[in-house]
Amino acid sequence: MGRSDRKKEHYYREAKRKGYRSRSAFKLKQIARKHRLLKGVDKVLELCSAPGGWTQILRELDNTLEIVAVDLDKMPPIQRVKFIQGDITAPDVVETIRDLTGGSVDLVLSDCSPNVTGNWTLDVARQLELAEATVSIADGLLTTNGKVLAKVFQGKGFQQFLQTVRDRYRSVKLVKPDASRKSSAEIYLLAALPRKQKEREDD
Ligand SMILES: C[S@@+](CC[C@H](N)C(=O)[O-])C[C@H]1O[C@@H](n2cnc3c(N)ncnc32)[C@H](O)[C@@H]1O
Repeated sequence: MGRSDRKKEHYYREAKRKGYRSRSAFKLKQIARKHRLLKGVDKVLELCSAPGGWTQILRELDNTLEIVAVDLDKMPPIQRVKFIQGDITAPDVVETIRDLTGGSVDLVLSDCSPNVTGNWTLDVARQLELAEATVSIADGLLTTNGKVLAKVFQGKGFQQFLQTVRDRYRSVKLVKPDASRKSSAEIYLLAALPRKQKEREDD
């Protein structure tokens, strides 16, 4: 077994042991600790949340958070989480998100992956659409000190997307937690302090 597989196996076993619904839970836990993600955060929108590993971590780290979660798939309930089953790229789902969040959130999380086809170019393009949808939703909801954490595959279109996010936020970091395998193309973009429309136009 290679190093990467051993790591995968390790987090798989740890997730089982701790009762987390996904290995991915450790990625959020590590990012949250290292980057103090929940500092000053009361309300979170979590996109592509099923089966709910990240949502479990949110609850574990702060029991008072208001959480709205969305996924195409069903997600077993988690205490006081408002869940929407739907497509984050669909306008009516975005409208429901707006209603359930009351129109503002402090943090948007997004761990979106399309159903992988095996065709790398197509998978990257689809994943990028989900990352773009995340930023567009965040644009309409984030508070002045708001943050967004979004998964992106590093492939065609990545650099351009990164530049778009840099144009919209004053702080943008690329984050690769230990629980994310080095061999995987995924990386997380952590953007904070959204620029106001006027500031963007003046730059
Ligand atoms: C890697 S999983 C998320 C795992 C989650 N962070 C956890 O820890 O349990 C990716 C999710 O993206 C969801 N997804 C993909 N396309 C979507 C879309 N258009 N709208 C909503 N969810 C989507 C999938 O259904 C899948 O549950």
